[in-house]
Amino acid sequence: NKRIKIKYLLESASAGEKSTIMGWVRSRRSNKHVTFIALNDGSCIQNYQVVADPEKISEDILKKANTGACIKVSGSIVSSQGSGQQTEIQADQIEILGEADPEKFPIQPKKHSLEFLRENAHLRVRTNTFGAIFRIRHHLAFAVHRYFHEKGFFYMHTPIITASDAEGAGETFQVTTLDLKNPPRDEHNNINFGEDFFERATNLTVSGQLEGELAALALSEIYTFGPTFRAENSNTTRHLAEFWMIEPEMAFYDAEDNQDLAEDFLQYIIQFALENCKDDLAFLDNRAAEEEKEKKAELRSEMGLLQRLEFVTQNEFVRISYTEAFEILKNSKPNKKKKFSFPIVDWGTDLQSEHERYLVEKHFKKPVIISDYPKAIKSFYMKQNEDGKTVAAMDILFPGIGEIVGGSQREERLDKLTERMDELGISQEELWWYLDTRRFGTTPHAGFGLGFERLVQFVTGMGNIRDVIPFPRTPGNAEF
Ligand code: 4AD
Ligand code: MG
Repeated sequence: NKRIKIKYLLESASAGEKSTIMGWVRSRRSNKHVTFIALNDGSCIQNYQVVADPEKISEDILKKANTGACIKVSGSIVSSQGSGQQTEIQADQIEILGEADPEKFPIQPKKHSLEFLRENAHLRVRTNTFGAIFRIRHHLAFAVHRYFHEKGFFYMHTPIITASDAEGAGETFQVTTLDLKNPPRDEHNNINFGEDFFERATNLTVSGQLEGELAALALSEIYTFGPTFRAENSNTTRHLAEFWMIEPEMAFYDAEDNQDLAEDFLQYIIQFALENCKDDLAFLDNRAAEEEKEKKAELRSEMGLLQRLEFVTQNEFVRISYTEAFEILKNSKPNKKKKFSFPIVDWGTDLQSEHERYLVEKHFKKPVIISDYPKAIKSFYMKQNEDGKTVAAMDILFPGIGEIVGGSQREERLDKLTERMDELGISQEELWWYLDTRRFGTTPHAGFGLGFERLVQFVTGMGNIRDVIPFPRTPGNAEF
């Protein structure tokens, strides 16, 4: 008969039915009378218990049902005698679909370190932890689309290959068909990108925002959700060279509307995960609690994973300006022996992650939206405030994560925008198409970018961003 997924079997099976399941063996134990196999098919975190009677299933088959092997089991659903589950399957037949040599298969039924699993990223999804993470990642992505769809936003696909550096930070990966060992040269001996595929220099996108703005000034409310690339050589637990970003862009929104949307959006998707990923979150909550136990007392967080998620969905975010944040930091007395030991900042310098964590985790103990940053540390497209010193930027900081969202109201005035581009040496000629939005039917508009992996980190409680994306791209790391 037809295969049923273990998730549905657990939800609806009743004793007496015949069923077929397929999956990968997590573990096997035997005594003289019977063999038990814990089978997982990835549809949920639970394994299903297979009971094999050696009178019915040959020893040869049972021997091959090792950890990691893929098998097909047909049999009868019966009430379980054991405590772990309500029902189990009494096998009439077991077929080995794919063997796994126990001497060689790296994922054994024991606790493996995350470092070891990272080296085995091609197989780590077969563990409970990574199964849970990637199922949650799916649900969060689905919730993103559902949220915007319900609000009447349109999903825009922006290009991956582009000629612009939207953030102007010079952290792009070049895309080229030229042989860089022996490239064509122009009369000044520079590489002649005119002979390249696109007849110009191109790179992987760092953000879909500029194209998103074009779309918002036609469809009113749009969002992008795609991979973005940054060649920043920072080996941290929060940075990837390839990450996914969600970028809503809205015409007729000001900075406050933008903050309201971002807060509501974050609360919605986290609530969605709480409602739809209960078992996986319970597993990761437990895992996080075990990890907390191993930490020194002063580093332990006060809340468990689930508590933290519920807290964020139920409490308003704090909203302060950069200048207010600066005053708090200036007047704080960080304890050198503990986690926070930063030097006092000067007005105008960017906040370091230590500052951000102090504000979120020690001072407010809540998500914080910081607005109106000094213009010198933010991108060219942000709306300049009346004071001449700050721009209508916002960053959202989350406990344990730091910056999770960056956004702003955009500079919709052509003269102000071009003046700022000139100051920063950003070519008006190159961005002529972007400036056209300000030439034809410009209007106040705003948007933000949510780093999807940082969100997945927050929701799963994983400490390292490499563990929330299936195939992390970091310096020196792109094998598979
Ligand atoms: O603050 P960022 O650089 O903002 C932008 O790219 C704007 N164009 C967004 C917009 O207004 N439409 O990046 C936005 C977010 C950050 O807050 C962070 O969560 C994430 O993207 N992010 C990264 N995540 C992982 N690895 C990296 N290297 C990241 N860089 C940024
Ligand atoms: Mg930022």
